[in-house]
Amino acid sequence: MNQDDLKRAVARAARDHVAATIPAGAVIGVGTGSTANFFIDELATIRERIGAAVASSEATRKRLESHGIRVLDLNEVTELPVYVDGADEIDAGLAMIKGGGGALTREKIVAAVASTFVCVCDQSKLVDTLGKFPLPVEVIPMARAQVARQLAALGGQPRLRDNFITDNGNIIVDVHGLHIDDPVALEERINQMVGVVTNGLFARRGADLLLLATPDGVKILRRGA
Ligand code: 5RP
Repeated sequence: MNQDDLKRAVARAARDHVAATIPAGAVIGVGTGSTANFFIDELATIRERIGAAVASSEATRKRLESHGIRVLDLNEVTELPVYVDGADEIDAGLAMIKGGGGALTREKIVAAVASTFVCVCDQSKLVDTLGKFPLPVEVIPMARAQVARQLAALGGQPRLRDNFITDNGNIIVDVHGLHIDDPVALEERINQMVGVVTNGLFARRGADLLLLATPDGVKILRRGA
């Protein structure tokens, strides 16, 4: 089984989970990235069961619409029973690093509205300690240098992501070399830096459920279990 086979398998499991748990006609939140793309393709097979979707990026909106799935603005929606998205790293407590695709801010906003965050990953994403994957931080462009200095003071090596502008018109600084022992504290600390829009730690609101693809099948881990 290659990595795409694993992603496809976990995407199918997520589709089955959504079909089994949401009320008919509910609106669901959809993440961004290659695993989320496989999920969107699977979602198309149950498009009559879901009312609409809220997208966490322009790329996801386009893919959902290409499958004939109606996409709503988040401001039109009061509740989302479920949000399904991938991660760059996830630990046993279901805290994550996200934003490898640069969609972290919209992902965090949509996830904040959802009752349940279902993370879909292949087994390569499960780690003991977060931080080997560089931590993405979305920054207002004029704050780049001063935010980078503060990130360096935390012990990381900030690097501007080349030729990349987010859907919100901002830049991404990727912080290399962090060993993240307390993801909640670091998430809060970076979010307090003036000029930071969001950072890619999803720890205060981590995943509730992890569907993890392995060659032996899709394993299910629940937060706090
Ligand atoms: C995008 C993300 C993605 O969920 C994350 O990068 C994982 O992507 P993939 O499924 O392609 O490995 O946070 O901003």
